[in-house]
This record gives sequence, C-alpha cells and structure tokens, in this order.
Amino acid sequence: MRVIKNNLYILRMVYAADKRRIIFMIFLSLISTSKNIINVLLIKLILDCIIRYQSFSLLALFVLAERIISTILSYCECLLQWEKCPVCDSIIKEYMLKRIYTKSLKIQVSALDYPEFYDKFTRAIDEAERRAPAIIATIENFMTSVLTIFSISTIIILLDWKLIFLSLISAIISVLINIFTIKLDYKKSNALTRPKRKIEYVRRLFYLPQYIEEMKTNNYNKLLFTKIENGAEEYNTQIKRYQPEIAFFDIIRSWQTFVINFGIASVLVGEKIVRGVIDAASFTSLIYASATLSGSLSDLFSVIPQMAEHSLFVNNLREILEYKSSMESTEDLKIVQKEKNHSILLDNVSFRYNSSADNILKNISLRIDKGEKIALVGENGAGKSTLIKLILRLYDPQSGSMYLDEENYKDLDVSSLRQEIAVVYQDFQAFAFSIGENVLTKELGGREDEDKVWEALKKSGLSTKIENLPDKLNTPLTDEFEENGISFSGGENQKLAIARAMCKDAGVIIMDEPSSSLDPLSEYDMYLQMLNMCRDKTLILISHRLYSTKMVDKIYYMESGSILECGSHEELMKQNGKYARMYHIQAEQYG
Ligand SMILES: Nc1ncnc2c1ncn2[C@@H]1O[C@H](COP(=O)(O)OP(=O)(O)OP(=O)(O)O)[C@@H](O)[C@H]1O
Ligand SMILES: [Mg+2]
Repeated sequence: MRVIKNNLYILRMVYAADKRRIIFMIFLSLISTSKNIINVLLIKLILDCIIRYQSFSLLALFVLAERIISTILSYCECLLQWEKCPVCDSIIKEYMLKRIYTKSLKIQVSALDYPEFYDKFTRAIDEAERRAPAIIATIENFMTSVLTIFSISTIIILLDWKLIFLSLISAIISVLINIFTIKLDYKKSNALTRPKRKIEYVRRLFYLPQYIEEMKTNNYNKLLFTKIENGAEEYNTQIKRYQPEIAFFDIIRSWQTFVINFGIASVLVGEKIVRGVIDAASFTSLIYASATLSGSLSDLFSVIPQMAEHSLFVNNLREILEYKSSMESTEDLKIVQKEKNHSILLDNVSFRYNSSADNILKNISLRIDKGEKIALVGENGAGKSTLIKLILRLYDPQSGSMYLDEENYKDLDVSSLRQEIAVVYQDFQAFAFSIGENVLTKELGGREDEDKVWEALKKSGLSTKIENLPDKLNTPLTDEFEENGISFSGGENQKLAIARAMCKDAGVIIMDEPSSSLDPLSEYDMYLQMLNMCRDKTLILISHRLYSTKMVDKIYYMESGSILECGSHEELMKQNGKYARMYHIQAEQYG
C-alpha cells in the first residue's frame, strides 16, 4: 500500500510540475507496444512470402510498409524521448529541487548537525533529480508490458498455448533474481552516500574562493589528497562488497533466458514442425513471440520490485519534505508585525549544540527594551555568537524561554521573526550575484529599489567605490560567472554586509563584530552612521573593540556562557571587574 502511495506521490508531483510528461508517457508506451507486435508479425509475414507464396513483390510490399510505419513510430519516439521529455524532466527536476530548497530553509540548523540527517538530506537532493524520471519510466514500462502481453498472448494462443507457461516460468525466475539485485543496489547506494559526500566536500574546497587562498597559503594539498584517497578507498570497498554478487545474479538471469526461451521452446515447437503441424514461418515467429512475452512478463513482474525500490527512496524524500521542524508547528502562529523596534527577553536560557558536552549558554537572563542599544562583550568562545543564533531562532534553547515584545518565541512565525531582525555576521558570505542583488537580497525592480540600495551603500561607506565601477550596481561580485566580476577586500565585504542590514529596514539590528575588518577611519564612520541609522531601532552589538561599546546603553560581559557583569560603560568601569580590566588592557595597547 505504502509502495503505491509513494509512487503516486511522485506522479502527483510530476502532474503538478508539468502535465505534458504524463501524456508523453502514454504515447511512448503505445509506440513501444506497436513495435513489439510489428516485430513478431513481420518475421512470419516475411517467411511466408518467401516459403509459402514465393513472391518477391509481396515481400517488397511488406518490407516497404513496415519501413514506413516503423520510421514514423521511431521519429515520434525520438522526438518525445530526446526533445520533449528531457525538457519536461528538467522542469520537473527544478520543481522538486525548489521544494527541497524551500524546505531546507525551514529545517532548523540543529537538524543538520546530525550526520545521519545530513546524509538523508543530500540523498533527497540527489533523488529529486533522478527519481521522478525513473518512476515515469517504470509506469511506462508497466503499460507497455500489459499491452504487449495482451496482444502477443493472443498470437501465441492461436499457434501453441503451451509456450505461454514456458514464458511465465522464465519471467518468474527473472523477477526473483531482480528482487535480490534491487535490494543489493539499494544497500550499495546507501553505503556509498557517506564516501561520496566526503569526496564531494574536498572537490568543493577546490572551487570555493574562500578556501582556495587558505589552501594555497597553508599547504593543505597533501592532507586534501589523503582525504580524497581515503574517500575513494571507502567507496571502492563498498563497490567490491556489493558488485560481485550483483554481477553473479546478472549472469544467471541471461543464462536462464537463453535456456528456457530458446532451448526448451525450440524443442517443444520443433516437434510440431516434424509432425507437419506448423510451418517454419510460424515456428520462428512463435519462438520470437515467446521470448517477447517472457520479456514483457518479467518487465511486468519487475515493476513491483521496481516500485518498491522507488518507494524506499521516496520514503527518504518524503521524510525531508514532510519533516516538521519544531519551529513550524501547525498551530496558529503569530506573524511578527513590522515595527520601528522590538523588545527581546531571555528568561533563564540554557543551550548546548548537539555535539557539545556541556552547556554553551548557562542560565542567561537579559532584557533588551524597545529601541535600547546593548553590547555583548567577552573573550573568544564565550557564547556571544551562539546567543545571536538563538535570538534569530536558528536553534531553540534546551531550557528557559525567549520573548519578542512579550510574545513567547514558540508562538511566533519564524520567518516573520527573522524578517524583523537584520544581522551583520562575523563571517559574512557574499553571493556570486550582482552588488545590487547582494544588498537587496532580490532582483532590483526599478528606480525605487536602486535608490534604496544606494542609500544603504552610502551609509555603509561603500557608495564611492561602486559609483566608479562601469556597471555600478549591476557589477557581479566575484568572477565565478562573469569576467567583469570584482572581488571585495575583507573590509569592503563587511561594508556590503552592513549595507544589506541597513536595506532590510528591520526593527532589530544585530552586528556581530561588524568592524573586525574595517580600517580605523571606516570603523569610526561606521559606528557613527550605525548609531544614527539605529536611532529608533533596537541594537545588539558584539565587539571586541571596547571603545565602540561606550556608545551603547548597556553592556553585558560574558564568560564561558554566563553573564558576569552588566551595566553602562561608566557603571562597569566603576565596578572595576573583568570588563574594566579588558578595557584598560586595550587602552594601554592603543597607547
Ligand atoms: N555548530 C557548533 N557546534 C558545536 N559547538 C559549537 C558550534 N558553534 C560554536 N560552538 C562552540 O560554542 C562555543 C561558543 O561559540 P561562539 O561562536 O558563540 O563564541 P563567541 O563568543 O562568539 O566567540 P568569538 O568572540 O570568537 O566570536 C565555542 O566553544 C564553540 O566551540
Ligand atoms: Mg562570535
């Protein structure tokens, strides 16, 4: 039942993506059936013309008619198979990938921290490309088999009904062998996922710009090649483990077809020729028909294990597509409304990553009022960026509660929540799109969008550089696709990230070390601009440069996942604790 449901699930997706593919499937199956029937009949007709009627002109006529019909059928088949269907398949693939990508944005990041889930996820993406055409092929096969069996059986019954049983036996043996090989294939494919992913990871490192320079300067080559070799070795081990058995079953299958369909069938029907019951034309055509019938019967029987195979893969795909993240419960979630600013409250929040042994955040309680500007400071690894991930609801805390404008995070719609928070990340990633698209995060629609982007670029201090580029906002970032693409320096990239945050016009702005790559002048300008822009907004700033934190209302000093000190710059200096010590050390360094 599950098998049928899963196959229909994909067929429904195909129908939703492109209805034409279903019609083409029916046509292709009709064409294949017609070809099978013509082949069986033609042998008999040709031999009859030669042996019984001894007429060359009749032979020529049949051959000509067959050629014309076959050419038309082949033309239609080619047109569908090589032109129409690939276009549809590509539309279907895109439709399915879009659904998986949309889903992937909804899956909480923590799920991807589990390697098993990550494996399933990559398999789902691989399957989205291949499974739909494979299921269509199976159904097409099924229809062709049923039609062929029906028509060929009629011919056989008229000549020698015993051959039907022979074909049936041969088909059943084929199917049993198929069941074994399909199970083995599935096991093999699962075992290959992890080594393939490892090899793919290293391959990716060679073309991702952010890694190439690291690799060149730090001489990672040897290590990377070892990783590839290890991955390939793991891959080969799995192939060696499964392939010999698969090959063995293949040999058995072809051997039994030959023995039963040609050997035993010839003996049975040959006896009739000796008795003069049938002639040579009928004999040949009967043997051919019997082989075709057993092929079609085995195709028909193999449709079931094939569908079962599809179903196993579709299970995986469905698991991902129907995965309900804890962040998208179906209850009525409140949409976060666009507002000038928001308040955020963390009540006794503790959190750890799946892979971390201890809590990374320990009983954090803090309140950020509407329009308040706060700073998180502390040593590397204190948990500052982790706290931001929780505020963005990329992760849920294991205990404690979080609130936005007094509403519990669990009652809020995640995407509208994230829409109201603009972040400049510590490790900002620019996309290989145009500058305008990077800032606006969508295609620029017209004058209004352009003005908005220029305004943001001006605020982040990047507008002068871009005004001097020939293609201005349309300049592609990175030369991955276009030769006129440009690469930004670390600081310029950071300014781009700031521009993107400014363009979002969100009520909460988070800056995770926005100035780490900026030169002192740009840094000073940026902080002034930022505070100016964020006048009404809620601001969370993470910074290691403590002079910038002087500008905010309240500072939280974190250490090992806890808040140790909190207050304004003056208050903390008076307290003369860890913050004051850190500030003094920095002040001394700057002299
Ligand atoms: N995805 C992850 N899985 C497991 N542990 C993580 C993950 N991300 C961060 N950590 C760990 O959590 C701790 C806190 O990291 P976090 O990035 O929050 O520190 P931070 O205060 O932002 O430090 P920095 O000042 O260096 O940016 C670190 O010990 C880090 O190793
Ligand atoms: Mg950090």
